[in-house]
Amino acid sequence: MLEIKNLTYQVEDEKDATKEIINGLDLTVEDGKFIVITGPNGGGKSTLAKLIMGVNKATSGQILLDGEDLVGLNITERAKRGVSFAFQAPVHFKGIRVVDLLRLAAGKKITTIEACEYLSKVGLCAKDYINREVNSSLSGGELKRIEIATVLARGTKLSIFDEPEAGIDLWSFQNLIKVFENMRQEIKGTIIVISHQERILNIADEIVVIEDGKVKKKGPKEEILPELLGTGAASIACNKLGGNN
Ligand SMILES: Nc1ncnc2c1ncn2[C@@H]1O[C@H](COP(=O)(O)OP(=O)(O)OP(=O)(O)O)[C@@H](O)[C@H]1O
Ligand SMILES: [Mg+2]
Repeated sequence: MLEIKNLTYQVEDEKDATKEIINGLDLTVEDGKFIVITGPNGGGKSTLAKLIMGVNKATSGQILLDGEDLVGLNITERAKRGVSFAFQAPVHFKGIRVVDLLRLAAGKKITTIEACEYLSKVGLCAKDYINREVNSSLSGGELKRIEIATVLARGTKLSIFDEPEAGIDLWSFQNLIKVFENMRQEIKGTIIVISHQERILNIADEIVVIEDGKVKKKGPKEEILPELLGTGAASIACNKLGGNN
């Protein structure tokens, strides 16, 4: 179980004033759940993901994974505890082929056939990609899918995806939804996806809305999604009526 307690993250802005980006955030996620985090731009979602992964260090508070506080641990130590992360903007690795990356991610010997299976799951024609170098010759969408494949290969306790749909075309997006649906069945651990997409929100067990560095709403999809969509529809209707909402 993941329990985040009273988490804060502060940075110094240009004027040396303290800016609170995560603001006393509490969140509990049970094992085996598929959680989608959403909310307005700049609300603190990516920052929260980086705090869980250890890319950013919390100012105060606790991030407990099965009772152990991750806050004092570095990225490698957290990865060893079973936390993995796919960035909003994927990283390039010079000199490393796609198959090497998948092997590194799996942390064990995997056959070429197994590596190909992971690539097929993210909608890439494996034989065309397996020996390509992970560099800027790959398109943004291809890199993103390769990164998702590495998280699949890792099969960890807690997998976090930051806007996996970013840069993925509409056709591939249909496949991406299938990837996540399959992932729910295959990965035994918890999956947290940060997304603005209704179709991804729609496959969540629970939806968490983060705004101003805090959890604004959390609950089953059946309860939160109609609220989110309802608010949108209501404000559009108001605008049409000339309201100022
Ligand atoms: N190191 C930093 N210094 C100053 N401000 C920062 C820093 N890191 C993040 N921020 C600010 O904190 C806020 C939250 O950023 P974050 O990337 O977590 O938002 P987000 O919810 O992921 O948004 P989006 O939906 O656009 O991806 C933003 O206003 C961002 O500019
Ligand atoms: Mg973000």
